[in-house]
Amino acid sequence: MHTATEERIIRPARNVYGSLALPGDKSISHRYGMLAAFAEGVSRFTNFSTGADCASTLACMKALGASVSRLEDGSVEVTGVAGRVTPTESPLDCGNSGSTMRMISGLLAPQEGAFTLIGDASLSRRPMERIRKPLEAMGARLTLTEGHAPLTIQGSPLQAIDYTTPVPSAQVKTCVLLAGLQTPGTTTVREAIRTRDHSELALRAFGATLTRDLDSVSITGPQKLRAINAAVPGDISSAAFFLCAAALFPGSSLVLDALGLNPTRASLLDVLTALGARISVLDLEEKNAELVGTVQVSAPAEGLGSTTISGALAAQLIDELPVLAAIGPYTSGGIRIRDAKELRVKESDRIALVVKNLRAMGAEVEEFEDGLDVPGGQTLHGATIDSGGDHRIAMAFSVAALRAQGDTLIQGSESAAISFPEFFNLLDLIAER
Ligand code: S3P
Repeated sequence: MHTATEERIIRPARNVYGSLALPGDKSISHRYGMLAAFAEGVSRFTNFSTGADCASTLACMKALGASVSRLEDGSVEVTGVAGRVTPTESPLDCGNSGSTMRMISGLLAPQEGAFTLIGDASLSRRPMERIRKPLEAMGARLTLTEGHAPLTIQGSPLQAIDYTTPVPSAQVKTCVLLAGLQTPGTTTVREAIRTRDHSELALRAFGATLTRDLDSVSITGPQKLRAINAAVPGDISSAAFFLCAAALFPGSSLVLDALGLNPTRASLLDVLTALGARISVLDLEEKNAELVGTVQVSAPAEGLGSTTISGALAAQLIDELPVLAAIGPYTSGGIRIRDAKELRVKESDRIALVVKNLRAMGAEVEEFEDGLDVPGGQTLHGATIDSGGDHRIAMAFSVAALRAQGDTLIQGSESAAISFPEFFNLLDLIAER
């Protein structure tokens, strides 16, 4: 099957300069949208993610009986189903979104009725055993297609479990918690590495009670959710592209307002600081338990240093690793990434594509099963980039292109709209040529 894709030329930049507020966080928007659609009452969100992934979540929840509308001022209004969804004849299309498919499965498993979930070609290759295991341990009936989507759920009442996630995954944790929310008894999810905790914070914001430990979270069901009004913080994983771009140019200055700074998501700021970038955080406040603030970044006059990302840090930075690897050649000492095997089962095999595209730009890079070594002190040239239809690859190499010699052609540039439709316009605003 061949799908037509768009291309975009990225010209080198002299500097990165400006001040922006970014669209709402994808992870938080998924959760707010899904919980609002399940809750009782009318929720309203400002700065809701504009990405196609969150639109997939809203479309699925609409098909399940919630009503969803975009108001004139851009906010999203969701009227929930008060805890009971309506089964649909046609399959629920999760598009490119792993979060939608994995999280909604937990929401639907304890409901009455049969549900079929489908996705695009990339999502249909991604591992779904990781949700089947815990949901079946709760008594759910799930059928996969060779470990993947399409998947069907025959909803039925479940039993609470105590589950330890074998791979760190906030999507799997959320899947189990959403099933636990509707299941009598206490469901506990344990994780060796703490993954993003937006679900825990959002469930509380919608009125649920959860208990948290250092490495576990428990929910006693059944519980009801109540509608909320909220402003979604700017997406730090989208910001990552611009923060890395600014870190490349001595003399740069970039200010990002109302940015989500949840500690389980903000490790990028520590890594950039370790590389030598100057970062300050101002006006920190809490909104629905999520930290939000203004971030200012500028590059060190002497250029970026070197760093190794492994262990828990690799899991917490999983979405930011492609762009960090893509700027690796421009550091003085290089970037080493390990313990990031999960990158191979994201929207694409992100290790393979980062290696392929760095090499296309003339970089030296060594590939490992669970990461890569990108030596520093390299000069790259413009090249044709294969995004593989993966939004984060398209955007990561648009950033690498800013410091390359000559123009770069990004194939499949439309994929940026999965998480960040405004990316290329905003990049043009802050990149001085
Ligand atoms: C997400 C969790 C991560 C991340 C994805 C969003 C979430 O995936 O890569 O972009 O919103 O929970 P995993 O749960 O598969 O690690």
